[in-house]
Amino acid sequence: MYLAGHARHARLGYDSGVTFSHGAKDRLTHHDLGRFAGETLFDRLGRAVCAAGVLPRKELYEAWEVARRVRRRVRGGRVVDVAGGHGLLAHVMLLLDDTSPEALVIDPVRPPSADALHAAIIDAWPRLSQRIRWFETPLDAVTLDAADVIVSSHACGALTDRVLDAALAAGAAVAVLPCCHDDQTCDAGPLGGWMDLALAVDSLRAVRLADRGYDVWTQEIPPEITPKHRLLVGRPRPQSAGVTAESGAE
Ligand SMILES: C[S@@+](CC[C@H](N)C(=O)[O-])C[C@H]1O[C@@H](n2cnc3c(N)ncnc32)[C@H](O)[C@@H]1O
Repeated sequence: MYLAGHARHARLGYDSGVTFSHGAKDRLTHHDLGRFAGETLFDRLGRAVCAAGVLPRKELYEAWEVARRVRRRVRGGRVVDVAGGHGLLAHVMLLLDDTSPEALVIDPVRPPSADALHAAIIDAWPRLSQRIRWFETPLDAVTLDAADVIVSSHACGALTDRVLDAALAAGAAVAVLPCCHDDQTCDAGPLGGWMDLALAVDSLRAVRLADRGYDVWTQEIPPEITPKHRLLVGRPRPQSAGVTAESGAE
């Protein structure tokens, strides 16, 4: 269920005022510093992102909302941010759980924004220095481990399936925020007559993880940040359990 007003702001860790759209693609710069004036971890992160001056606003909120939900389910582990782009999700995963030794960002294309963003975050949290490594390779070139926590925000189309396959093969925890579903490369199974393609594809993905012995959480990040807001979290199941639906912006 979506909360309203102050209760929701408190749960989110930031002010979700409508005058400052969290889904905007404008870059956060020093002009926005006043929006992150508090002492919460999110405000401190926001100030670091503003100092870098390179990141579209929506990407700060996406990374934060994904990471905080994943960290409720999965602690520790080497973080592997697949299709990580600038790698902010990898950084936030370490900020939210310092027991993770390191994070890898896997992306064949390292965007120009990555260096400035990394430098600004290291400036604020020197303890992350040397704990984030980039691999400018496709996912297939990386060897994963059962102790890894694999995260992937907006791995387009069937790349999300390859992320899930790699996690399953390693027996690792995984969280994906899928996007760009298409009927040529994504599998909707027999569900297309009842629901839209993207929901059908993501439903099958959740069931696939559960069938392979994972505890599965189906959640959403706030839709005002991105219309591609379904978050799928899976963790290898120690005992038998199932799929847990937890929708809404907590
Ligand atoms: C939509 S962007 C998402 C970037 C970032 N995660 C975010 O949310 O802002 C998709 C990314 O997938 C990367 N990519 C494409 N093929 C890939 C592959 N085989 N393995 C890893 N990353 C890949 C692209 O270079 C691109 O940066």
